[in-house]
Amino acid sequence: MNKDVESVVLTEEQIREKVQAAAAWLDAKFAKSSQTPLAISVLKGSVMFFCDLVRAMQTPVQIDFMTVSSYGAQTESSGMPKIVMDLAASVAGRDVILVEDIVDSGNTLVTMRNLIMGRGARSFTVVSLFDKPARRAVPVQADYACFEIGDEFIVGYGLDYAQQYRTLPYVGILKREVYEKK
Ligand code: IMP
Ligand code: MG
Repeated sequence: MNKDVESVVLTEEQIREKVQAAAAWLDAKFAKSSQTPLAISVLKGSVMFFCDLVRAMQTPVQIDFMTVSSYGAQTESSGMPKIVMDLAASVAGRDVILVEDIVDSGNTLVTMRNLIMGRGARSFTVVSLFDKPARRAVPVQADYACFEIGDEFIVGYGLDYAQQYRTLPYVGILKREVYEKK
């Protein structure tokens, strides 16, 4: 285990199970869809989850990416997410599946929903690997959240602290001393 990680929240095996369940939920929802849904990865945090999720689905989807940044090197969201890289595809008339790593304050999700619905998407479905309901600042939620956690800062499987730890294959709680000494 990485020396900065206090304990493991999801092992690789548990992640695989969560991914399978989320993919099955999406398949059930979109199996009879009249068009190919557009799955969007909110980068960078959701990238690992996204790649595993779309490959676990039976339903064919198109994929696109958007980079949204809400933190500097902190563990608290700045409140105003910034679009660093926009989508390549048009979402007008599309069934959009937004894939998130965590819904925390909810600010990112609200920003994404307003943007994507504002561009004329036909539907908007959110799948998130984690949900931190205790930290919500705006009343939104994912349509499907794989795992609920308390007010802990977690890293790995795409999730970072100051751009580090994203490549860990599991998800763990970051030791407080790592971010509190700064
Ligand atoms: P929100 O806009 O506050 O909901 O924040 C969403 C984003 O903050 C997520 O997509 C993550 O990138 C990041 N985030 C929130 N909590 C954590 C965490 O515990 N570890 C790593 N990133 C987090
Ligand atoms: Mg992030």
